[in-house]
Amino acid sequence: MSFTTTGPKADGGTLAPFDPHELQDTVAGDVVDPFPRLAELRRQGPVHLGDIDLGDEPPQHYSNVQPVTVVGFDECVQVLKDHETFSSTVYDGVIGTVMGRTILQMDEPEHRMQRALVSPAFRTKVLERWEEGLVRLVVDELIDGFADRGHADLVKELTFNFPVQVIARILGVPRSDYPRFQRWAMEIISVAANWDRGVASSLALRDYLSGVLAERRAEPADDLISELVNVEVDGQKLDDEEIFSFLRLLLPAGVETTYRASGSLLFGLLTNPDQLQAVVADRSLLPQAIEEAIRWEPPVTLILRRSMKETELAGVKIPAGADVALFLGAANRDERKYSDPDKFDIFRESKQHVGFGFGVHVCLGMHLARMETRVALNALFDRVTDLQLEPGAEDLHVHGMAFRSPLSLPVTFKAAQH
Ligand code: HEM
Repeated sequence: MSFTTTGPKADGGTLAPFDPHELQDTVAGDVVDPFPRLAELRRQGPVHLGDIDLGDEPPQHYSNVQPVTVVGFDECVQVLKDHETFSSTVYDGVIGTVMGRTILQMDEPEHRMQRALVSPAFRTKVLERWEEGLVRLVVDELIDGFADRGHADLVKELTFNFPVQVIARILGVPRSDYPRFQRWAMEIISVAANWDRGVASSLALRDYLSGVLAERRAEPADDLISELVNVEVDGQKLDDEEIFSFLRLLLPAGVETTYRASGSLLFGLLTNPDQLQAVVADRSLLPQAIEEAIRWEPPVTLILRRSMKETELAGVKIPAGADVALFLGAANRDERKYSDPDKFDIFRESKQHVGFGFGVHVCLGMHLARMETRVALNALFDRVTDLQLEPGAEDLHVHGMAFRSPLSLPVTFKAAQH
C-alpha cells in the first residue's frame, strides 16, 4: 500500500477518508501473532539486554547504548514507578519533532505541573456531558449508515470513525474537517513509517489549530480548546505552543488507540459468541469486557523509557543511557500474574493491567476511552440483534506489532425492532 498524498489537501471535503487498510504495512507492521515469541522471551527471563529478534523490525532505539527489552509484568511496573531512573525524555526525538513538547516526554516536576493544567478538561463532570450530548450522537449516526442493511464491516463503518469524530466535536471542529482530522492523526502517528508525511501533517495541523485557537481566544465557546485557554493552576496558564502540543498529542493518542481498542474488543466478543451473548444480555458486563480486551490485546503494545543511570532490573545490569522497551502486550500476558493469559475471558478475576500504562504517565484519556467504547457497544447492541461474524469470512485476526487491532470485521445482523 502506498500513500499518494504528502499532506492534507486544503479542502477537507474532497479528501478521501483514511482507510484502515492504509495502516496495514506502515503503522502496525505486518505481524499477525507476536505473542508466542513474546512468551518464549518471557520464559527466558523478564528482562533482556541487547537487540532481540521479534520477527519484525526491532523497536527503534535512538541511543548507542545496548537496548533493553522488558516483557514481565512486575518489571514493567517497576520501571514505570521509578520515573527518576527511567526517563520519558526518550520520546524527545521522533514524537517531539511531530508533536512539539508534550507531557508524554516530560519528566517530573515539569510533567506534574503541565498535566495538572490539562487534566481538568477531562474531569468526570465533563465526561458525563460528552457522553450524553456527544458520543452517543456520533455513534448513532454512524450506525444509521448500516443498521438496515443486515451486514457491515464494523471496523470501516464504526470503530475507525467514531473516536476521531468524538475528538473533533470535543475540540469544536466543523464537520467538513473530520476526514482531514483523521488523516492528520494517522499520518502523525505513522511518522516512523513515512517521516516527510508525518512532519507535513503535523505542520498542517498546527496551522489549522492556530486558526481555531485565535477564534476561541476572541470568542470562547463550550469546547475543549476554550477550556485549555482559560485553565489556571497556581497562577500558571498554558501558552499557545503548549496548547498546540497538547492538542496534537490528543489526536493520535485519543483516536488511534480508541479505534483499535474497540475493534479488538469486538473481535474478542465475536470470536467468543457465548461471551458476546452474555454482554448483549447484561450490559453491566461491558466495563469488565473492555478491561479484558485492553489486557488481552492492548492497542499500544510497546512504550519506551531511557535509563538515566546504571541500574539493575530482575538481576540484569542496565547501563546508563539505554533505551528501555516495555512490552505492555507481553506484560499483560505474564503467566506469573494471569492464568491462561492468552485466552480472552471477560469473566476472569479482575486484576491490574498495564494497557493504559502505569505511574505518573498513566493514560490521561483512559476514562474517556472507556466511556466511548462502552457507549459505542451499547448503541450497537441496542440497534442490532443476532450479531455474528459473516459466515465464511476468512483470515480475520488482530494485526500489528507496536499497534494492534483487526483491519476488518465483516458481520451480519438483524435490525432490532423497537
Ligand atoms: C483504549 C484507548 C487508549 C489506550 C490503550 C491508551 C494508552 C496509553 C498509554 C499506554 C499511555 C502511556 C504512555 C507512556 O507512559 O509512555 C498513554 C498516555 C496518554 N494518553 Fe492514552 N490511551 C488510550 C486513549 C486515550 C484517549 C482517548 C486520550 C485523550 C483523548 C488519551 C490521551 C493520552 C495522553 C494525553 C497521554 C500522556 C499522559 C502523560 O504523559 O502524562 N489516551 N495512553
